[in-house]
Amino acid sequence: MAEAYARRLEEPASLSETSVHEVEPMTNLPKNYGTGPGPITADGCAVDYYATLTPNGEPERIHGAIPPGASILELGAGTGRITHRLVELGHEVVAVDQSPEMLAHIVGVETVCSSIETLQLGRRFDLVLLMSFVIETADDQQRGAFLATCRRHVSDGGSVVLQRHPPEWYDAIEPIERRLDDGRTFRLRDLSRPAPDLLAATTEYTIGDRRWTHFFISKRLDDEQLEAALARADLVLAEFIDGDREWVRAIPRPL
Ligand SMILES: C[S@@+](CC[C@H](N)C(=O)[O-])C[C@H]1O[C@@H](n2cnc3c(N)ncnc32)[C@H](O)[C@@H]1O
Repeated sequence: MAEAYARRLEEPASLSETSVHEVEPMTNLPKNYGTGPGPITADGCAVDYYATLTPNGEPERIHGAIPPGASILELGAGTGRITHRLVELGHEVVAVDQSPEMLAHIVGVETVCSSIETLQLGRRFDLVLLMSFVIETADDQQRGAFLATCRRHVSDGGSVVLQRHPPEWYDAIEPIERRLDDGRTFRLRDLSRPAPDLLAATTEYTIGDRRWTHFFISKRLDDEQLEAALARADLVLAEFIDGDREWVRAIPRPL
C-alpha cells in the first residue's frame, strides 16, 4: 500500500521546504511553493523535473472511460506528460496551464496559458480532465472555481474526470524515502495534519546533483464532500473508474 502511495507522490501530485512562505488569504494557510533549479510554477511544481516524467498508465485509463475520438480539455496539463499520449490514442486535446514554461514542452497540441479558475474558451468538450490531485486544493472557493470551469466546458452528454487521493490516504500516508532504479531519490517529509482533513508535507526529488522541493497542503475530499462539491457546480458523480476510488467520472446534472 505504501508503495502505491509513494508511486502516486513521485508522479505529479501537488507537492514541496517550509521556511519562508506566503499565506493564502482565503484560507490563512501557507501557500504551496517549490524550490530548486529551473522554473517553478505558481503552485510549486518544478518544470525541469516534471519534464523528465513519463505516463504511468493514466492515459489508457482515461481513454478507456470515454468514447473513441472524444475531444478533451486537459486542465493543469503541465509538460504534456499525459497530453501527448492521449493524442496518440486518437483524441484531440486542448491543454491548459498557467505556466508558460510547462506548456513550452507541449508539441503539436493546442495550448492555452490561463488559470483554470478564469478559463472561458466558449467551447465545450466531450471530456474535461482535471487530474494530478489539483482538485484537493485546501481552498474551497478555488475548488468551486475549478469545478465551475469543468462544468462550463463539458458538453451535454460529456464527462468530467477528476483524480483525487482516496479519502483513507490522508490517514495512511507516512514519511517516505526511496532511491529509484535510475538513481533518482524521492522523499516525502515534514508531514503534519493542521486539521483533520488537511495534510501538509514537503516532497523532495533529486536527479544527479539537481534537487527540488515542493511544499504542499491538500484537503481530503471524502465521497460525501466530493458529491457536495460537484453538486454546487451542477455536476453529479457518475462512477469511480478504478477500484481505489481515485479516478472520478462526473456528468452534468440531468435536466
Ligand atoms: C502536478 S503538475 C501535473 C501536470 C500534469 N497533469 C501531469 O500529470 O504531468 C500540476 C500542473 O497544474 C498547473 N496548475 C496548478 N494550479 C493551476 C491553476 N489554478 N490554473 C492553471 N494551472 C494550474 C501547474 O502549473 C502544473 O503544471
